Amino acid sequence: MDIRIFNDAEEIGVAAAELYRELLTEKPNAVLGLATGATPVPTYKNLIKLCNEGKISFKDVTTFNLDEYCDLDKNDKNSYYTFMHENLFNSIDIMEENVNFLDGNTADCDAESKRYAEAIKAAGGIDLQLLGIGTNGHIAFNEPADKFTDEAFKVTLTQSTINSNQKYFGDVPMPRYAMTMGIGSIMRSKKILLIATGESKANAIKALISGNVTPQIPCSILNEHPDTVIMLDKEAASLIK
Ligand code: PGA
Repeated sequence: MDIRIFNDAEEIGVAAAELYRELLTEKPNAVLGLATGATPVPTYKNLIKLCNEGKISFKDVTTFNLDEYCDLDKNDKNSYYTFMHENLFNSIDIMEENVNFLDGNTADCDAESKRYAEAIKAAGGIDLQLLGIGTNGHIAFNEPADKFTDEAFKVTLTQSTINSNQKYFGDVPMPRYAMTMGIGSIMRSKKILLIATGESKANAIKALISGNVTPQIPCSILNEHPDTVIMLDKEAASLIK
């Protein structure tokens, strides 16, 4: 793993966007795996800036988001569909038909999982998968578990994740389930970029860097990926030697 430490989240946003600039210069029709949450926002701001300056274009890019809440309309203000449109897609030149999400309201999770896996395969596989990390070490919504998952599935969110994300929903109880890409789908990406900022992520990062691969710390599987870049601010890196 290639670990890079920065002063703050803003510096990471610039460096991460530069990685995308390099990829899109080399491969304008790249397939991007995208993430939601607070962590990628500075990266998305810098991607919008580069796009507005004409330094990158998304017109031939295809995207696959990692996860989506269940039991939430896709146009709800808290859906990841809405998040991605507000924080990135509405401000870049991407084609809506090239934007892919898991359907959190599917009546048939197995069929939905298969559909997503086939769409990723048909697009040529994910070139660069962006990941955040949960305080419990989750990646996408792969919560600590007894075994690593493969393709997308419906997950019951843990209390730790609910504690972290309830703030976005205010007084409305947040969904208890989500559809998420599995560990296998993430690991098949050609390159992975994991970003973590803030002290609350320091323990999860320490566990990841320790090299002990266990499904109880889902992010630990990244030790087995051949091309993973990890960008940390000083706080997230504070427990690693
Ligand atoms: P955050 O979420 O960026 O909002 O901290 C990250 C995650 O849970 O994967």
